[in-house]
Amino acid sequence: MSFPQYRYLAPEQLEATPHDFEKAARLLRTRTGIVLGDHKREMAARALSTRARKLSVASIAEYLTFLEHHPKDDEWHEFINAFTINHTAFFREQHHFKMLAEFVRTRKAPVSVWTCAASTGEEAYSIAITLRETLGPTAAATVWATDIDTQAISRAQRGIYTGERVEPVPEHLLHKYFLRGKGGKSGMVRVKPSLSEMVRFEPLNLLDPVWPTDQKFDAIFCRNTMIYFDKTTQTRILTRFAPMLKDGGLLFAGHSENFTYLTDAFRLRGQTVYTVVR
Ligand SMILES: C[S@@+](CC[C@H](N)C(=O)[O-])C[C@H]1O[C@@H](n2cnc3c(N)ncnc32)[C@H](O)[C@@H]1O
Repeated sequence: MSFPQYRYLAPEQLEATPHDFEKAARLLRTRTGIVLGDHKREMAARALSTRARKLSVASIAEYLTFLEHHPKDDEWHEFINAFTINHTAFFREQHHFKMLAEFVRTRKAPVSVWTCAASTGEEAYSIAITLRETLGPTAAATVWATDIDTQAISRAQRGIYTGERVEPVPEHLLHKYFLRGKGGKSGMVRVKPSLSEMVRFEPLNLLDPVWPTDQKFDAIFCRNTMIYFDKTTQTRILTRFAPMLKDGGLLFAGHSENFTYLTDAFRLRGQTVYTVVR
């Protein structure tokens, strides 16, 4: 016996065929550089089904055809956001922040840093704290924080974190740069305006042919992001980073990323940090 009305109460996940997966992977790779490994099939099927259902589209194939035919539609943000991996933390790979502090002491003001895959903001605020602590409260220092994921960038901009997220931040810095939530917000913290005013958050796709700045930076953080791209894309991006750094500028990579064999525009300085070659 069937209860047709129940079909609408508990809709099942839409089926994703191998062809759907391959098409989704191709669209994602062309637009973002992210290579979707085979082990992501189940996760992709769930994400695509959720998006197709949200748009009341009958199948995943139809959803993907919609994306293909509407390259400027806002749904593209939702599609991309569903596949980005936003894992990050305050002061992740702590040795980089020690190195950044030593480096910026030697630089002329104004000091500027670009974090180009800023995720939900922890990296950008860790950089901003390092600049403030090293150069003082009135020094001219700014952070440009960008990411392709529009949802992550909105969260970064809000600058609100759970107590657990800010555990890596030493107590004296937590007190200095964060406000503690009260009442219903108890257990949460918010970045103080004196710190957030240093950081400009913006969505940016590293694959876009033009990056909307002609600023030159003392350092670029591009950590734990290139691992999702193929070698050709990595090389293309590295080649574009080089002229955006001031003389002697540094590029910070993630712990498992090695750019040595991809380009001669950078020389390894140590601990996955590279100096631009001029
Ligand atoms: C694992 S997180 C790394 C966050 C931070 N850099 C860190 O190391 O803690 C990778 C980030 O890369 C971003 N990303 C992926 N493809 C991108 C692209 N084409 N342009 C800009 N950001 C991208 C994702 O949205 C995600 O937030």
